[in-house]
Amino acid sequence: MDKYIVNGGNGLYGTVNIQTAKNSVLPILAASVLTDEKIVIRNVPAISDVHNMIKILGCLGCRCTYIDRDVEIDASCSDCCEIPSVLARELRSSVFLLGSVISRFRKAKIAYPGGCDIGLRPVDLHLNGLKRLGVRITESNGYISCECEQLTGNEIMLDCPSVGATENIMLAAVKAEGTTVIKNAAREPEIEDLQKFLNYIGAKVSGAGTGTVVIHGVNKLGGGEFLPICDRIEAGTFLIGAAMCGGEIQLNGVNAELLSSLLHKLRENGCKIRVKDDKIMLRSDRRPYSVKSIETQPYPGFPTDLQAQMTALCCVCRGNSIVTENLFETRYKYVPELKKMGADITVIDRNAFVHGVEKLKGAEVIAHDLRGGAALVIAALAAEGRSEIFDISHIDRGYSDFEYKLRALGGDIVRVAV
Ligand code: UD1
Repeated sequence: MDKYIVNGGNGLYGTVNIQTAKNSVLPILAASVLTDEKIVIRNVPAISDVHNMIKILGCLGCRCTYIDRDVEIDASCSDCCEIPSVLARELRSSVFLLGSVISRFRKAKIAYPGGCDIGLRPVDLHLNGLKRLGVRITESNGYISCECEQLTGNEIMLDCPSVGATENIMLAAVKAEGTTVIKNAAREPEIEDLQKFLNYIGAKVSGAGTGTVVIHGVNKLGGGEFLPICDRIEAGTFLIGAAMCGGEIQLNGVNAELLSSLLHKLRENGCKIRVKDDKIMLRSDRRPYSVKSIETQPYPGFPTDLQAQMTALCCVCRGNSIVTENLFETRYKYVPELKKMGADITVIDRNAFVHGVEKLKGAEVIAHDLRGGAALVIAALAAEGRSEIFDISHIDRGYSDFEYKLRALGGDIVRVAV
């Protein structure tokens, strides 16, 4: 297992090209099982979640290649509807495959999905949605088994706007008989991107990006090439990093609209931000001001996936901040690690009360999950002295070329095999 060694204190200056969105690529890869024609997904980030999804598609009998950042999938030879537990446990998004595998084979079997340990993360909304489409589900020995004679469109009301459940039900409904209406659907931009991809290959989906998604079932889907949207969470991580370390950076290939809630907060922090076409420029030349409160919400609210990075920034702001995590139960596992770096944070229930200190200090810390790990990296870059960040395989799940991109900006960070 690798670790990062970081010597903090450098400002970040320069340009970063933003990767395509992990959370868009993964459901699109799952969707490729729905068609017999060749799919090419362009500019796919080299992250372990993608590698694991490709391995799972391979286990399902799909032919997949990943060359020069393009993934090519030929699912015409797919002949297996069972997802092995070793892989399902590596990757939460494996659960999206239920929708497309059941659509293809009328049956599917998958071990309970893994992913970041940030809360309970049940899949009841996914399963209830599939049941409404006519799927019979049994759960035993850590496996979910699904079966149906045919999938039939229906109205599905989600108890809460789950991103994964919305996407999974969309995938199951695309080739179902009749029309499916998902109410209280999640509105994340990655769901709109999935709709765009599905329609591009011949589906009839509308409403993604609003609370109601309508899917008219079709018999057959085609193939083609697709470029997913930018990764707003990777982009946000670099912006927060530059706000924290000081400096001036430009992000290329981003849609600033998707980052409105973050940009609003960073302006409150005192950062100078300009947006032009697909670029965001951020300058931070003084110690940031605190923002009074940050609450994670479903899109278009402040993303839970930037909560840890933003809390790290609050640690060095002038004054106090309150961060509230509303989506996941245990998303503060990085806090004890930040405290080793001198952060002054008290967590009570869903709230983190942060008193800004002048400087953090380098320390040995452990990444317990993907975004918490990224927060520790930017904290270490901003801190005085040397840090070591262990268990960075969590970070590899979502950031491609992370240390290369940070080094190009002037960050002193190296990866070392432990
Ligand atoms: C997706 C994102 C993840 C992000 C999250 C919230 C992907 C691959 N991952 O995760 O990066 O942090 O959205 O923006 O796109 N819930 C239930 N029952 C369910 C499903 C969810 O109770 O069946 C609850 C969850 O416990 C959580 C909330 O709904 O409290 C939101 O979760 P959800 O939107 O489903 O997150 P994911 O799709 O897992």
